[in-house]
Amino acid sequence: MNFDLAAFKAEFPILARPGGGGAPLHYLDNAATAQCPERVIEAVARHERENRGNIQRGTHHLAERALEAYENARAACGRYLNAPAEEIVFTGGATAALNLIAHGLGEGLKAGDEVLLSVAEHHSALLPWQEVGRRKGIELRFLPVTREGRLDLSRLADLVGPRTKVIALTHASNVTGAVSELAPVIEAASAFGAILVLDGAQRAPHGPLDLQALGCDFYALAGHKCFGPNGIGVLWGRRALLERLPPLLVGGGMVGHVELQHSTFGPPVRRFEAGTPPIAQAVGLGAALDWLGALPWPAIHAHLAALSQRLLDGLAAFNDLRLCGPRDLANRLPVFAFDLAGAHPHDVCQILDRSGVALRGGHHCAQPLMAAFGVEALSRASLAPYNDQADIDALLKGLDQARRILL
Ligand code: ALA
Repeated sequence: MNFDLAAFKAEFPILARPGGGGAPLHYLDNAATAQCPERVIEAVARHERENRGNIQRGTHHLAERALEAYENARAACGRYLNAPAEEIVFTGGATAALNLIAHGLGEGLKAGDEVLLSVAEHHSALLPWQEVGRRKGIELRFLPVTREGRLDLSRLADLVGPRTKVIALTHASNVTGAVSELAPVIEAASAFGAILVLDGAQRAPHGPLDLQALGCDFYALAGHKCFGPNGIGVLWGRRALLERLPPLLVGGGMVGHVELQHSTFGPPVRRFEAGTPPIAQAVGLGAALDWLGALPWPAIHAHLAALSQRLLDGLAAFNDLRLCGPRDLANRLPVFAFDLAGAHPHDVCQILDRSGVALRGGHHCAQPLMAAFGVEALSRASLAPYNDQADIDALLKGLDQARRILL
């Protein structure tokens, strides 16, 4: 199947609007938030216009339609992930999903147990375990990273053992774009009966997943990075594990029976969805994932690989620029973080924004990884299928300008 870039890009109304400084927009901050296609915006608006009601709290037709739309969205997430809808939990985002997993699994852990993470984790994957670890006396251990920022799996055997109860790793880094090599991790997890949690926030937008084949036990993703709305995410877990997981939030909609001094909770997955959930956002995410799942991914990956190579070649031509991440295209996402001769990334990003190039600069919610690279902050360009050669050229030209202004 061919990929018609112009037609694809035309689906995103925001991309036709001016960027910073009134210049044409070159949106290269997709790892922070991907833009919404019109069909997703319209799916949310149509739901609000035609089907708005609360779910499971009414017997009128709008409540029924809202519930049907919400459950259809759950099924769409299941199709994208190749997982049963009964294992799809809607959360407020990837952070909420990762907190739910850490706090839920942490309930079953005791002092002396160990959890293996990596130095490359996003703060949203790290901090929940710090909290749980502190409360329960659990030891956190960390896989280091290589010079290119890949997980250093040569240390795996030293770090995993009979006390390892959970291994919680990023599926792909939001800084380096490196996709984690999972086979040795899965082998180590199964050798010691550890539960494997993957933070899929970055990987999920880059094509459908097969969670049956992937070999993990829990997976988290963020709707807004998958071209869907904000305020919605997904936690997938194996049914048998979800059955044993306590909820993080309690309240309406997730109960079995409630008395004044004691309550029972309902079964998964609504046990984890206390209160009125983000219904329209779930509908939007369902629309986004159905659309993403039907895209011509081999052609899109070829398109992104060509753009990535052009960008890597362009970055390599700056002799005072240091790329923090893999220099080749194998097992990586189109996410490129770099240091421009020590110039502060906020300054770099502001200068580029004036010519319409939208980047992210800062510690990227990954301060331990910044420390491993010996920097405080980096600038980052991250690509989505609607990006084109003009975006890469504008970035490279803007970096040249930034160098001349800042250095
Ligand atoms: N996690 C998002 C990023 O890396 C916000 O930009």
